[in-house]
Amino acid sequence: MRKMFLTAGVIALLGGALPLAAQQAADAVQPEVATSRAEVEGVSPALAAALSAKGLGQPVEAQNWMVAAANPLAVEAGADVLRQGGSAADAMVAVQAVLGLVEPQSSGLGGGAFLVWYDAETGELTTLDGRETAPLAARPTLFQDEAGEPLKFFDAVVGGRSVGTPGTPALMEAAHRRWGRLDWAPLFDRAIALAEDGFTVSPRLAEQIAADADRLGRYRDTANYFLPGGTPLAAGDVKKNRPYARTLAALAEGGAAEFYTGAIGKTIARVVQEAEGNPGVLAEIDMALYEVRERPAVCVPYRAYEVCGMGPPSSGALTVGQILGLVSGHDMAALGPDSPEAWRLIGDASRLAFADRGRYMADSDFVPVPVKGLVDAAYLEERAKLLDTDAALGDVAPGNPGFDHAWADDDSIEFPSTSHISIVDSAGNALSMTTTIENGFGSRLMVRGFLLNNELTDFSFRTHADGVPIANRVEPGKRPRSSMAPTIVMQGGKPVLVIGSPGGSRIIGYVAQAVIAWADWGMNVQQAVSMGHGLNRFGTFDLEEGTDAAKLQEPLEAMGFEVSVQGLNSGLHGIAIGETLQGGADPRREGIALGE
Ligand code: GLY
Repeated sequence: MRKMFLTAGVIALLGGALPLAAQQAADAVQPEVATSRAEVEGVSPALAAALSAKGLGQPVEAQNWMVAAANPLAVEAGADVLRQGGSAADAMVAVQAVLGLVEPQSSGLGGGAFLVWYDAETGELTTLDGRETAPLAARPTLFQDEAGEPLKFFDAVVGGRSVGTPGTPALMEAAHRRWGRLDWAPLFDRAIALAEDGFTVSPRLAEQIAADADRLGRYRDTANYFLPGGTPLAAGDVKKNRPYARTLAALAEGGAAEFYTGAIGKTIARVVQEAEGNPGVLAEIDMALYEVRERPAVCVPYRAYEVCGMGPPSSGALTVGQILGLVSGHDMAALGPDSPEAWRLIGDASRLAFADRGRYMADSDFVPVPVKGLVDAAYLEERAKLLDTDAALGDVAPGNPGFDHAWADDDSIEFPSTSHISIVDSAGNALSMTTTIENGFGSRLMVRGFLLNNELTDFSFRTHADGVPIANRVEPGKRPRSSMAPTIVMQGGKPVLVIGSPGGSRIIGYVAQAVIAWADWGMNVQQAVSMGHGLNRFGTFDLEEGTDAAKLQEPLEAMGFEVSVQGLNSGLHGIAIGETLQGGADPRREGIALGE
């Protein structure tokens, strides 16, 4: 066993607040700090090799199976399952259970997730929606004060008000029921042992605790866990979480019913409703009624591929698909990754896509969403004519994707936390899952060893703009619009790339860029996830500091863009499927890819 130090290729520090667009207030802020190096105690030789590969910018190669996720301990748990012949769904259960312990700020049992699945036996692609859901008692004015004005973001987030019914435990069980090969209960063994014996607090977790200490200190159970004796946990501390071990044991024994209709669900409802200073309305009935929804994947053609992902209530696949569709008429391969023209096209395609996202995309079980129209080839071809210029676009408005429903533009606030898991198993099944509790540390309410989400703040705080309703307003039983974009790229009916990222609404740009880098610029999956980012969602072109992307500042400014050079904290995890499996893990975070 060795001790590894990994120097990250890119150090993405906490970005400052950017100019806010009217329709998407604090979408532009990212509160998560990236770590400059990952320190992992007692790593196995396979893990050490994976860490070295990432450090050198090389993909990890394997023949049979592979798993890529945000923390080596979680990846090793998944690798154990795959080594025993488990399916990608089995491995996901083990990975998620460990992530909830070692990366509790980003995802866990108290959150929600979207999963895209390629089934090697049937050749079919499907998605599972485990998104958190608004309680039945939630009203459209949930995030407004008595005067009808939107609450300040953190006044809404911290406490019970923002907590939606968690979906992740139900999603884990639904995926295992459909596609699992191994028994359910032992999939939790690794996480239970780590929770009982203690895990080593990573630098990234420690940095995030220190940065959020004030908010983490607000509720006693949360403070006791993250700030024992008033001092933030430090990197290298060995931390036990016995309540989490007991929760996992209950889930392992009794399945998701134990979570939703047993003592855990009751405690969640009580803690939410009794949250001092900011109680919520989540009730036992909401827990009991929760269901995972299977939905068709949204696929958009790009070059020789179909880029497939999660439709509403996520805006992920539609917006990624729009960006790719809008640039598809241009020879991105010939332009190459250093060309300002390529980035002008990507940036303004993204702005056009975000304008449509803000108006049309929400939970399609509640409001009509023109899913087909938004990625219709003729619509995108027409809209792409706006890019036939050599300068930055001025004002950008939503298009008309053959839809006569008048919505106002959304003003939802969405901060990035979240985590992404990519897995390919030895039978050739592929799983792409993005999982979240929304803001770093979610609502800051901790129940039985895990944090509760603040996902409801992904709804628009306003219900109307100038008397016109907003599609993504709060409604009882509705799921808040997401940006999560778990993606599987298909070619000839087979998966060739599994990828996704955290990053709030920046997820969309991170994933679209990685697909272009891989498909057009000939990058391997590690290069595609490592390259510097350029993103434009609402008018400011964000370029990643400390990377080649920052060199685009001058030429993009000369084209008329407002440019901000800053840390861009993606967490891309991808697996390319060819003659071998090649895995890539984002150097901005602590994750790895591992395979055999
Ligand atoms: N809360 C992050 C997302 O769903 O996009």
